[in-house]
Amino acid sequence: MRRYPQIYQQSIEQPEQFWAEQAKRIPWMMPPKTIMTYDDQQHARWFADGEMNLCHAALDYHVDQGRGEQAAIFWDSPVTQTQQTITYRQLLERVAAFAGGLQQLGVEKGDRVVIYMPMIPEAVVAMYACARLGAIHSVVFGGFAPHELAARIEDAAPKVVVAASCGIEGSKVVAYKPIIDEALALSPHRPDACIIKVRAECDVEFNEREYDWETLVSQATPAECVPVKGTDPLYVLYTSGTTGKPKGIVRDTAGYAVALAYSMEAIYALAPGDVFFTASDVGWVVGHSYIVYGPLLHGCSTVLYEGKPVKTPDAGSFWRLIEKYNVTSFFSAPTAFRAIKKEDPDAQWLAKYDISSLKHLYVAGERLDPPTYHWLDDLLDVPVIDHWWQTETGWPIAANLPGIEPMPTKAGSATVPVPGFNVQVLNRDGEQAAPMEQGSVVIKQPMPPGCLTGVWGDPKRFHSAYMAAFPGYYLTGDGGFFDEQGYLFIMGRTDDVINVAGHRLSTGEMEEVVGGHPSVAECAVIGVHDDLKGQLPVGLVIPKDGYTEGEEALEAALIARVREQIGPVACFKQVIVVDRLPKTRSGKILRKLLRNLADGQEVGIPSTIDDPTSVDDVHRAMCDHRIGRANETPPHA
Ligand code: COA
Ligand code: AMP
Repeated sequence: MRRYPQIYQQSIEQPEQFWAEQAKRIPWMMPPKTIMTYDDQQHARWFADGEMNLCHAALDYHVDQGRGEQAAIFWDSPVTQTQQTITYRQLLERVAAFAGGLQQLGVEKGDRVVIYMPMIPEAVVAMYACARLGAIHSVVFGGFAPHELAARIEDAAPKVVVAASCGIEGSKVVAYKPIIDEALALSPHRPDACIIKVRAECDVEFNEREYDWETLVSQATPAECVPVKGTDPLYVLYTSGTTGKPKGIVRDTAGYAVALAYSMEAIYALAPGDVFFTASDVGWVVGHSYIVYGPLLHGCSTVLYEGKPVKTPDAGSFWRLIEKYNVTSFFSAPTAFRAIKKEDPDAQWLAKYDISSLKHLYVAGERLDPPTYHWLDDLLDVPVIDHWWQTETGWPIAANLPGIEPMPTKAGSATVPVPGFNVQVLNRDGEQAAPMEQGSVVIKQPMPPGCLTGVWGDPKRFHSAYMAAFPGYYLTGDGGFFDEQGYLFIMGRTDDVINVAGHRLSTGEMEEVVGGHPSVAECAVIGVHDDLKGQLPVGLVIPKDGYTEGEEALEAALIARVREQIGPVACFKQVIVVDRLPKTRSGKILRKLLRNLADGQEVGIPSTIDDPTSVDDVHRAMCDHRIGRANETPPHA
């Protein structure tokens, strides 16, 4: 008898029993009596009256259980040539001391703390210290510009900001203090204090209300864990939506802990004591769930890697780490493997290392494109598992589940829905799509534990973005289909979100920045296929009559503007000045048509188009600028 269908059915038909059972995986201070309730938007809430503390469950509990001397973190930083092993006991001591420092600065349960740090152990310490106090952290990825950091500081209104003096990007030292100073100058909210971890690569001068990490910690009294309710927020993580304003995804505490603990076994097939290496960043959801919280909740060791897949120093870094730390499961983004494949197509670096400890390789962040899947599958003796998830869900929605029952893999598919996720594909009329028919991928309520509980400070946006399109269902924003065997294929976003090198970005936000330039009359930003990064943004711009700077200067100014306001991570490097854009007669820019043109796909001209000749103009401009695969576009129908 197959195990997966049985377990999946139970999770869907009897969600409360299923998750009550899974809740036994974590240590409670007060076990929950209520397993699930619905909020006023008919969205599930889990374990509302249970009490726990996530730091306790991940650190104190394991030290009490005799794991104190086991490695909690293997920090490997080729960019600073440092390697450090931090045991569970040492990590607990560091977290308790830093939590004491935060407490000294007035941080209490429910206060927000913004963390702007690179991949250093202090980032993990700061996150757990917040969890210890019941404070809500909001980690901001280092590749965002001051303007983006300011928007998050304004929205989260933190009592304290925690930062490092710099991040190291390959061979570049990126000083963080000027970024923080500018963000604080831009934000109307002023935190009470800013704590800075000074790194050897970059010193800082401390101003009023700024504290040196080491001094603060040396004077602090270690803090105890503060019990929190199951539904109390653990963190807010901002992610790109369809508008210029990022959405603060709110994650609860107990539901998240239970979901992560479950996934460590069911999806990642890991046992306590195993080593999990997730090559991502603490600034993304993948980093929160599977660098910081998941592995330690489950008694595993986590690898914290401050480096890139290539050039720090070579394309063998991942394999080196797997050998060195005896990694059992490894997880990264497809783009990282495309970068390795580009530099080392014959995998000569792989041959130098013994990676026999590895049992499974996981990828997510974007669809694992079949060529990269086949490259990895031919190369490695372990299953290559594409799994699909989002910042909002906090853990995978669809995956192969070797911890339950390994299933044959199909290139291009994220396999099957994970227990707890009632995934359906709906067509435009809101009816269930037939097998192989593409539609909107949705999740029927109740969603399992671990998923978002709201948008920070904006309940209406939660409803409008996720719940309004199909009542009773959560809209994922992805399009896709099930095949005849029930395998799920996620084919891409149906909104303005794009995925650049595994980083989620909003073309709507870029349009706001580009459109804000005084010489721009109108613009569209689209995501165009890129062999390495998956997608890249391209701006198409109509200048105002009489603009004086000339095409080249305007293009350069717009590129600089997006880099300054959103950050280098946007990879916004291509702008084309055009006379016209294809629009409907009601004035709506035909973005899908533009995307198809740039991707070399067949372009159907809609009957509602205002002026069909505008398509040829734009196509010509794209070919001149060598945009994507525009020169492969077949003649339009
Ligand atoms: N701090 C400051 N700047 C950063 C940054 C950070 N944390 N991360 C990226 N940047 C900068 C880069 O230096 C680069 O700047 P440049 O325009 O001056 O060169 C720019 O942002 C774009 O970065 P990126 O898209 O990462 O390009 P890259 O060429 O440096 O690296 C990859 C390409 C594919 C190797 C890299 O993007 C990667 O490893 N991606 C995987 C992402 C991931 O793990 N996602 C999580 C999902 S699992
Ligand atoms: P993020 O919130 O940054 O994790 O990005 C989530 C989005 O990335 C999803 O909505 C998908 O569009 C895309 N994505 C992530 N993982 C996959 C995957 N395995 N297959 C297809 N798309 C994916």
